[in-house]
Amino acid sequence: MEHAFVKDDAGAAMKLEYGIEQDDFSRAGEASSKIKKLLKQLGIDSGIIRKIAIASYEAEINVVIHSNGGKITVYVKSDCIEVYIEDEGPGIENVELAMTEGFSTATSAIRELGFGAGMGLPNMRRCSDDFFIDSKLGESTRLKMVWNI
Ligand SMILES: Nc1ncnc2c1ncn2[C@@H]1O[C@H](COP(=O)(O)OP(=O)(O)OP(=O)(O)O)[C@@H](O)[C@H]1O
Ligand SMILES: [Mg+2]
Repeated sequence: MEHAFVKDDAGAAMKLEYGIEQDDFSRAGEASSKIKKLLKQLGIDSGIIRKIAIASYEAEINVVIHSNGGKITVYVKSDCIEVYIEDEGPGIENVELAMTEGFSTATSAIRELGFGAGMGLPNMRRCSDDFFIDSKLGESTRLKMVWNI
């Protein structure tokens, strides 16, 4: 799925990008709430915004919890909104397993914070019109989600 991640900003009327820090629970969710706010200001349909907000939040939290940090990029195009999440590893050993509802490697400390139900990735796929994941163990995880507007 290498080709699926190609970030094509041709025709993007707007581009947003936010860094996501590893283990920074005080700021976790900040990027997705900024994205939600901006899409509201642009007058995007509230049902679509809701789905983008849920999926972006889940992706952002995964970077905070499971990765060494990363970034989230949003392109607003005339016919769609694209959200890209890239992190700095460690990557996912078995992507198909990670996509399974209920699968989680979250520690008990993370579960006590209310995360680790193993529902984030399945929810992202369910909430988006197009969903791509590409991960290599020892390298990084990259997600692309698209919503038609
Ligand atoms: N960015 C990532 N980097 C490394 N591993 C990840 C990443 N995102 C997800 N994973 C792996 O995939 C598993 C499933 O992710 P998913 O978001 O579905 O569940 P969770 O984060 O464990 O729990 P929940 O999202 O319900 O709080 C994670 O437990 C983790 O092992
Ligand atoms: Mg998750």
